[in-house]
Amino acid sequence: MNTNLQNTVSDPTSDDAQPLASLQHVNAIELTQKVEALGDWFHNIDLDGVSTAPNHFLGDYPNIKWKQISSVFPADLKGASVLDVGCNAGFYSIALKQRGAGRVLGVDVDTRYLDQARFAASFLHLDIEFQKCTVYEVDSIAGQFDYVLFMGLFYHLRYPLLALDKVVKKVSGQLVFQTMLRGSKHAYPVKPNYDFWNKKIFTDPDFPAAYFIENSYSNDQTNWFIPNRSGAEGMLRSAGLQIVAHPEPETWVCEPKSVQRDGRYILDMELDGTL
Ligand SMILES: C[S@@+](CC[C@H](N)C(=O)[O-])C[C@H]1O[C@@H](n2cnc3c(N)ncnc32)[C@H](O)[C@@H]1O
Repeated sequence: MNTNLQNTVSDPTSDDAQPLASLQHVNAIELTQKVEALGDWFHNIDLDGVSTAPNHFLGDYPNIKWKQISSVFPADLKGASVLDVGCNAGFYSIALKQRGAGRVLGVDVDTRYLDQARFAASFLHLDIEFQKCTVYEVDSIAGQFDYVLFMGLFYHLRYPLLALDKVVKKVSGQLVFQTMLRGSKHAYPVKPNYDFWNKKIFTDPDFPAAYFIENSYSNDQTNWFIPNRSGAEGMLRSAGLQIVAHPEPETWVCEPKSVQRDGRYILDMELDGTL
């Protein structure tokens, strides 16, 4: 594992790809220029007084989210391993590394965000791995992780349950899952079965649902399925997870409960028609 990112990570803002070793010596104006050269940031990260996304439409994001969920993680992570799926510029990876996590691996499909993440982690002297990898390939990452973060990504996926079933395979401890929600905020008392002629449930706004976005939502064509609360909770349980905490309306902490049947994962059984 790389233990000296400063000397090995190239500065993506530089034409001649100089190492980031000199980053700690830049002044605030130079740092701001380097931050801006990395493109628009979705994560607002404090780099020694320089904010990477000071005008975020959601405010100080995701710090406002982190404040609500940070208590679900131990204050000292004691070397726990972390996989951050859809890590963006690495806000959560950084926060958990700063709490004493051991191996932290952030994956994302967007090289701009990965460059931002490497820049921020290097500036903060944090040894975090960032790799280009889609959520649909996480099952090819070796081993399992004590904490897997699946935050702000589910509703961006055309195949959300495929992704969830793959992510579940990487969880040895807890999955921290967050999604945009729309519709009812109420949990629905799910029954084991519904009669064929029971059509009333489908007019109940609390019934588990995911709204399909055909074109675009919030000017974003990658918003595909936006669940209501009971839809999100139902899909988590259906993936074999047990919900153990719900620290804020959009976030759930889950642990594997029945992710395998007869030693086989739900994903593998579904794909070979034996589920
Ligand atoms: C709304 S941001 C959420 C970022 C961060 N996880 C958070 O909660 O603040 C969605 C992130 O998912 C990434 N993403 C989109 N599709 C992905 C995919 N198929 N696999 C992995 N990451 C993906 C995007 O590039 C973006 O960084």
